[in-house]
Amino acid sequence: MAEIGTDIGIAKALLEEAQVVAIPTETVYGLAANALSIPAVTRIFTVKNRPQFDPLIVHVPNLARVHEYAEEVPDTLHALAEQFWPGPLTLLLKKRAVIPDLVTSGLDTVGIRCPDHALTRQLLETLSFPLAAPSANPFGYVSPVTPQHVNDQLGDRIPYILDGGPCRVGIESTIVGVENGQTTIYRMGGLSLEDIERVVGPVHVQAHSSSNPKAPGQLKSHYAPGKRLILGTIEELLQQYPAHRAALLTFQADFNSPYQFILSPTGSLTEAAQQLFTALRAFDKMPVDFILAELVPDEGLGRAINDRLRRAAAVD
Ligand code: TXA
Ligand code: MG
Repeated sequence: MAEIGTDIGIAKALLEEAQVVAIPTETVYGLAANALSIPAVTRIFTVKNRPQFDPLIVHVPNLARVHEYAEEVPDTLHALAEQFWPGPLTLLLKKRAVIPDLVTSGLDTVGIRCPDHALTRQLLETLSFPLAAPSANPFGYVSPVTPQHVNDQLGDRIPYILDGGPCRVGIESTIVGVENGQTTIYRMGGLSLEDIERVVGPVHVQAHSSSNPKAPGQLKSHYAPGKRLILGTIEELLQQYPAHRAALLTFQADFNSPYQFILSPTGSLTEAAQQLFTALRAFDKMPVDFILAELVPDEGLGRAINDRLRRAAAVD
């Protein structure tokens, strides 16, 4: 199992030797390596068992550093970064040659974000290179939001997990770019559509085009938990599926089942986002065959939660 600790010096030394280290962010834990080193980035793909056509996000300590890795920052994206960084926002920008093609899967854009977590920002500030970091889970599985989640799945493949406690947001960053002059959201995430539109006006949402997955995170079944998840109205689902073989995932409702997870008894979408991936992992350990789940209100962080639920339910 990996060593779990809060020592930035250990993390720094490993990263400088082209090793991978799990790092905390406000969204989910990342599997980090030197973004400018091909051997280091190759290790990320190997440890995650991730196909090389799925590009990585590059993490920087501040907005000023972006100019070293991206050619230009369109005005709307600059405004978003000024408003929301550090925070759960990834920008797709035209990449400079210093970023290896391996990081971007050969695309001419690079995803860049400044994460909002004190330990990881300190680490980024002491390093002379940015960190490429996908979520720290095996490819195709739910993202980790605690050090223990990382250790459960990748502990025997990585030397160190930087312990920053449970993730505050609990759902991955929102990915935003500009396409044909239009500000475009490619992945709903921890920064809401409403917050983004308050700063830059109406944006285009292209988060579900499975025909042409610009972000392979858009592959429909990308967030698959270990068990079949069925979406609907819980009362109706309970008439179709044998209750003793099903776990229930609800927003607020209590069905008094031994195998249920209530995302937020008080109806908070912020809390529901924090709890979502912990819930999906908890079901894996329950003696049930299905997860019967309901959507949450489709507003604010609810859009990102529903996006993950729909993908977890997709069978293809
Ligand atoms: O919150 C997050 O974004 C977390 C933390 C660790 O920062 N990271 C994360 O990384 O979720 P990952 O690799 O699990 O998901 C990143 C998504 C992938 O679906 C990838 O396809 C997309 O971002 N992506 C990265 N660079 C891209 C690019 N240049 N063009 C299009 N999509 C890109
Ligand atoms: Mg991921």
